[in-house]
Amino acid sequence: MQLLNDFKQHLIASGKSEHTASLYTQRVAGFVKYVAEQRIGKITEELGRYGDRVSVCPQDETGLLDLGSVLDDLPEGTLVYCCGPGPLLDAVEERCPAERLRVERFSPKAQEDGENSEFEVELAQSGRTVTVAPDVSVLDAVRAAGVEVLFSCTEGTCGTCETDVLDGTPDHRDSVLSAEEQQSGETMMICVSRCRGKKLVLDL
Ligand code: FES
Repeated sequence: MQLLNDFKQHLIASGKSEHTASLYTQRVAGFVKYVAEQRIGKITEELGRYGDRVSVCPQDETGLLDLGSVLDDLPEGTLVYCCGPGPLLDAVEERCPAERLRVERFSPKAQEDGENSEFEVELAQSGRTVTVAPDVSVLDAVRAAGVEVLFSCTEGTCGTCETDVLDGTPDHRDSVLSAEEQQSGETMMICVSRCRGKKLVLDL
């Protein structure tokens, strides 16, 4: 994943938590569009200290956000960073080019049902190979082998466990990487994603 600061401008549409919107506003250099069901006085004051960098769009006052007015004709170098409920993220994904969009889901995207099969994971740094059983995640298999890895959500939404793939084809089941990033196969979220084939080589 590219870091937010790789981009010249940023825009966040947040559907739920003003506090989250505030935290992101501290992290980014660009503009934030905050979408809420209704204006909540105390926390809206929190966003108010960012001046015109933040536009608050309470739906009970202004109606549904016109995504076209926000997403069409974005200036060059703008990254759209969107967190919030699924319907908002889906609508933004439909309208915004994948290479300019990063989403953060509060719950995992629905995944196609598929059978899990066993495969091997070679850990390039430690020279070990672990077998990943159908009912075990790569994360758990790696940890059971005594390899320390960072993780948090264990449901493919936070990005903490992102791991470099050195060989093999991941079966991506996360809600973090863009379609383009998944297609490249360079990294994977080992808490949920698996292997298309018999073996992966990971930079662990
Ligand atoms: S631990 Fe959150 S995406 Fe894997």
